[in-house]
Amino acid sequence: MSTQRDLIEGLLQFVTLVESERKLLAADLHDQTLSDLRELARLARRLFEKPEGAMSQEVRNGLAKLIFGLEAAMDEVRRAMESLSPSALDTLGLAPAIESCLARASQTCERPFLTRFACPLRIDDINLTETEQLLIYRIVQEALNNISKHAGARFVEIVIMRKGDSVLFRVSDDGRGMTESSDLRRARGIENMRYRARLIGAELTWLRATGRRGTVVEVRVPIGRNDE
Ligand SMILES: Nc1ncnc2c1ncn2[C@@H]1O[C@H](COP(=O)(O)OP(=O)(O)O)[C@@H](O)[C@H]1O
Ligand SMILES: [Mg+2]
Repeated sequence: MSTQRDLIEGLLQFVTLVESERKLLAADLHDQTLSDLRELARLARRLFEKPEGAMSQEVRNGLAKLIFGLEAAMDEVRRAMESLSPSALDTLGLAPAIESCLARASQTCERPFLTRFACPLRIDDINLTETEQLLIYRIVQEALNNISKHAGARFVEIVIMRKGDSVLFRVSDDGRGMTESSDLRRARGIENMRYRARLIGAELTWLRATGRRGTVVEVRVPIGRNDE
């Protein structure tokens, strides 16, 4: 039993290390790539603002395209940073970080969907470790990625609630639903979700929304062990 525990402990340490590497990568993107792009955009804007006769229309049009492209690239880098290391998790905490991940998923989805977020409990009162919070966040993030990629949903809801000795994170969509075969294929994303859940002793289930289309993903995290 203790070797099983040691193994889980080792894996948790490994995951923590990977996450701190991701944080460093996000910091590099911020300090180098983003600041280089910002500098280039500033230069292009300065040139664009020169008086009428200073350049041909063709050059001016080219500069406008360049500025637009640089802004889009900066947005892309910001998105990559946020997904590498969710700053909201550090600054705001788990529930608001999940809420903003939901909003972002809708905004960046090809067909934006309506969202609802409910968290009728004070999650700060619950003793979740930093790693547990991060892993829960990653599981919810992949559930949302899958909704954006595969579901074609019009409405997505996340509810966080207390259920007995656990906290339940429920992500529901009204999209096309999962087919038996796609679930059984044990694709990478779902495997990663299962792996992360196992590390924190959480139970992960996929349900079909009853009476309507769509998918429900539930993560049930036992609490109270840390108080012992
Ligand atoms: N919310 C969802 N709605 C519809 N299909 C889904 C949903 N989530 C997952 N799937 C299906 O399950 C498959 C496996 O998901 P995943 O392991 O994350 O792999 P990937 O996203 O890389 O295809 C997806 O390819 C998709 O067919
Ligand atoms: Mg996926």
